[in-house]
Amino acid sequence: MTVEPLVVVGWVLLAVVVFEGAGSAFVSWRRAVAVDRRNRAGLALLEARLAAAAVDCGRQGERRRLAWSGTRRLTVVQVVVENSEVRSYLLGPADGGALPPFLPGEYLTFTLWPEAAGGRPLSRCYSLSGDPGELASYRVTIKRAGPPPGEPAAPPGRASTWFHDRVTVGSILEAKAPSGHFLLPAEPDAPVVLIGAGVGITPFMAMLAARARAGVAREFHLFYGCRDGEAHLWRREMVRLAATDERIRLVVAYSRPRPEDRPGVDYQHGGRIDLALLQRLLPANNFDFYLCGPAAMMTELTAGLLAWGVPAERIHGEAFGPASVPLGVAADGAVAHRVAFLRSGKELAWEPARGTLLALAEAGGVALESGCRVGNCGACKLPVKSGEVRYVASPGRAPDPGNCLACVAIPASDLELDA
Ligand SMILES: Cc1cc2nc3c(=O)[nH]c(=O)nc-3n(C[C@H](O)[C@H](O)[C@H](O)COP(=O)(O)OP(=O)(O)OC[C@H]3O[C@@H](n4cnc5c(N)ncnc54)[C@H](O)[C@@H]3O)c2cc1C
Ligand code: FES
Repeated sequence: MTVEPLVVVGWVLLAVVVFEGAGSAFVSWRRAVAVDRRNRAGLALLEARLAAAAVDCGRQGERRRLAWSGTRRLTVVQVVVENSEVRSYLLGPADGGALPPFLPGEYLTFTLWPEAAGGRPLSRCYSLSGDPGELASYRVTIKRAGPPPGEPAAPPGRASTWFHDRVTVGSILEAKAPSGHFLLPAEPDAPVVLIGAGVGITPFMAMLAARARAGVAREFHLFYGCRDGEAHLWRREMVRLAATDERIRLVVAYSRPRPEDRPGVDYQHGGRIDLALLQRLLPANNFDFYLCGPAAMMTELTAGLLAWGVPAERIHGEAFGPASVPLGVAADGAVAHRVAFLRSGKELAWEPARGTLLALAEAGGVALESGCRVGNCGACKLPVKSGEVRYVASPGRAPDPGNCLACVAIPASDLELDA
């Protein structure tokens, strides 16, 4: 049987039309599935955000209701030896009341009375290192501060030595309610890079624990630097928390690993955390960066991140050592002034490069008390006998009239301070 050429053409055309129709139907179906999937993901994210906001709202209410003003007595309910230099202290309310929820990244400010302070109170801040969802007790973790490198004859740290030598289960401490500004971005899915060195890992442990509890999975890149396996804090806890979600990436760097420390198992990088490591392991610089550790590390990494193009407002720091608040734009237009420290009999020349009044005093050999160094605890309060100051960061609580907070103040005129 012969088939007419026209019929063949007709069949071919029909086949093409059917094939094209099926193809475009398939493409439309695929598109619809993708849109549906996107919508569902968007809805899930929205629901998770709403749930997180609701939990947050509830916690904020509890926090406001239970927060205390001034200091409160806290009892040490447990002491945990973390390693040869670091101890954790679990603290419950001495009055039997409830503790307010805290935000990961906040700290407690203690008023302490160590003998080494010569009868004067010392104000010291310690980050809350425990799970913010565990409100039976707070946890702070304290490293014994030895003399600075190269100064073996210098006295050891007063507050941390007192904690390690004198504070035991049952000791009563005085502390202000949790506070601080070292907080994660409000958007629950904004990705972050956390960089902690030594005991500077404490606020990040609270952030990790809070994240593991939350419904929303924020992308976390946690870089932790310490000396070696002996100094590595909470190794198992850190690995367990990091394993709760594939969007947590943990990189541990040992600066001086011991022969028994296993590369690739106990730590991923030999050496310190520096910009080159971050550039090698991060997909981009488009993150909020959180730095916590010694002042030298913070200064070096902040400069590196700025040079890499990270905007200053996306770099957040919590210095545990004597770092000063950067002057930033608040000091624009500031000019040189003289600052007289009346009781010490010293007059120092100030210019913007000298930093805050606290930094000026320390560099000039005038001993001032300090605690948080970010305007929260009030330890650096000084009476101003004459002249005006300007603040480079808003004080957590304004000092009484006639006083200034030296850690966040710069001169706005020649000054006379009672110090
Ligand atoms: C917000 C915030 C959170 C913090 N969180 C933590 C935390 O979680 N864990 C933690 O361990 N720390 C933390 N810190 C640091 C903590 O507050 C203290 O600064 C730290 O414990 C040292 O205090 P100290 O009284 O023991 O030492 P200080 O007495 O203040 O001495 C500090 C250093 O100076 C040296 N020194 C003292 N006198 C002399 C001298 N005459 N000559 C030369 N050197 C001298 C000491 O040897 C010591 O090394 C935090 C700090 C802040 C601001
Ligand atoms: S040191 Fe805490 S307010 Fe200045």
